[in-house]
Amino acid sequence: MDSPFGLLAELTYSCPLSCPYCSNPLNLAGYRDELTTAEWQRVLTDAQELGVLQCHLSGGEPLLRRDLVQIVNSANELGLYTNLVTSALGLSRRRAEQLRAAGLDHVQISIQADEPVDSDRIAGTPSFERKIEAARVVKELGWPLTVNVVLHRQNIDKVAEILGLAEELEADRLELANTQYYGWAWRNRDALLPSTAQLERAETVVRAARLRLEGRMDVIYVLPDYYSRYPKPCMGGWGKRQLTVAPNGDVLPCPAAQALPLPRASVRENSLAWIWADSPLFRRFRGTDWMPDPCRSCDRREIDFGGCRCQAFQLTGDAARTDPVCHLSPDHGIVTEAVQAANEGERPDDGALVPRPHRGRAV
Ligand code: SF4
Ligand code: FES
Repeated sequence: MDSPFGLLAELTYSCPLSCPYCSNPLNLAGYRDELTTAEWQRVLTDAQELGVLQCHLSGGEPLLRRDLVQIVNSANELGLYTNLVTSALGLSRRRAEQLRAAGLDHVQISIQADEPVDSDRIAGTPSFERKIEAARVVKELGWPLTVNVVLHRQNIDKVAEILGLAEELEADRLELANTQYYGWAWRNRDALLPSTAQLERAETVVRAARLRLEGRMDVIYVLPDYYSRYPKPCMGGWGKRQLTVAPNGDVLPCPAAQALPLPRASVRENSLAWIWADSPLFRRFRGTDWMPDPCRSCDRREIDFGGCRCQAFQLTGDAARTDPVCHLSPDHGIVTEAVQAANEGERPDDGALVPRPHRGRAV
């Protein structure tokens, strides 16, 4: 068993935005009893002792936690590399300066499109101008800046303009992440899944931009699952390198695993060390012994680990099956049907998108 490398600390599921591709759980109301500051500090200490080096502070919107500066400060004192994953709403200059002083290492700002009309429509609230302002503050304070844009049917045709915006903001890294269909994105899949032609155009633009921007800005392109021949090695393997702590203290091998019919594990009931090493949840899909055919005898089983357990469950109702994205999976037809539908006939427009609801302020 390896040590975990990264901790995704989902501090709150409250969020001022309502993006229809949000990967937060559908039952947001089940997560209102959030960990206290002291509980988060204990999580960070235990994570560091387990070997965690990087801590991603995420949500929802982590800036809604009034104790964010304290949490960053604790992570920093433990020597963890801290990354704030934010919509940037609430990242005023004053708050940014406090976070800088507390030792925050890196900021990742999500932007929904390249200009205010589309971006605010997708975010479900006026936010574009504030994001741009916050991105400029991030650069002024000397942080490395990642701009993250979730790509889907409604914005992928603007990828050149998105690249232009990231350049103008002097982002160090642009993450163009094709939507992963969990949580709200799963619910909205038909209106979000792009066509083959859209993806081909976008990939041509990205390839050219990578060459042009080499040495100035890293352009990361997260492949669209449904169009891949093999599945992604999700989380680098179940319980292998990453762990997630949800706002209520549930510990998960990945953020979407709360939807799986598996035993829960919580830092309110057990130590992080026991959960990582011995809990039935983390042991369930660790390694290769659990694998069915065709993964069991496949020479890629240590490369992609049979794909994504959450996707297998989402698409087949059984988390222990081969990820249907794999062309060798007996369930691959489910994916080809969805792709075929995305390429044929009338598709739902963005009016069909169900926004994720806002939730009020966090503790
Ligand atoms: Fe990966 Fe399993 Fe497909 Fe082989 S059969 S490529 S291990 S998902
Ligand atoms: Fe949960 Fe892939 S998202 S295993």
